[in-house]
Amino acid sequence: MTSDEMKEAAALAALDCIPDGAIVGVGTGSTVNFFIDALGGMRSRIAGALSSSRASTERMTRLGITVLDLNSVESIPVYVDGADEVTPQLHMIKGGGGALTGEKIVAAMSRTFVCIADEGKKKEVLGAFPLPVEVIPLARAHVAREMVALGGRPVLREGFVSDYGNVILDVHGLRIADPVELEGRINQIAGVVTNGIFARRPADLLLLGTRTGVVRTPA
Ligand code: A5P
Repeated sequence: MTSDEMKEAAALAALDCIPDGAIVGVGTGSTVNFFIDALGGMRSRIAGALSSSRASTERMTRLGITVLDLNSVESIPVYVDGADEVTPQLHMIKGGGGALTGEKIVAAMSRTFVCIADEGKKKEVLGAFPLPVEVIPLARAHVAREMVALGGRPVLREGFVSDYGNVILDVHGLRIADPVELEGRINQIAGVVTNGIFARRPADLLLLGTRTGVVRTPA
């Protein structure tokens, strides 16, 4: 089984988590693209979607899915998104695709966060994947120095501008023993928009595509 097949299996399993008539929160990335394509086939069963990025909005619009304005919605029953790393506690690193800010907002509005991923994303400890930090351009050098002080090696994502006009520092070399604490600490640095640790609002359900089928956590 390829990693794409595992991603697709996890994405299709998430369809069972969508209540009829719901507004569905939709993440970003190659795993979510399988979910969006399947959601297109059942678009008449949902009230619409909240999107976490321009890329997902464009894909959903092409498929005829109604994408609603985030500011017109109070909360949503379910958010489906991928991850770059996910632990047994369902803490995640996200933002490899650069959509972490929109993802964090839609996740915060959701009652249930369903993480869909292939088995390569499962880690005991976060941090082998470089941590994305979205930064206001003016603060790039300041935030980079602060990340060095935290023990990381920040690398500017070359040629990338976020949906909100910001830059991303990918921070290598962090071994994230306490994701809840580090998520809060990085977000306190002046000029940081948000960082890619999703631990204060972790996933509620992980659907992990594996060689032997989709494994649910919690079972
Ligand atoms: C997008 O910014 C990310 O948070 C994605 O959810 C994450 O990078 C997973 O992407 P893939 O599904 O493409 O691996």
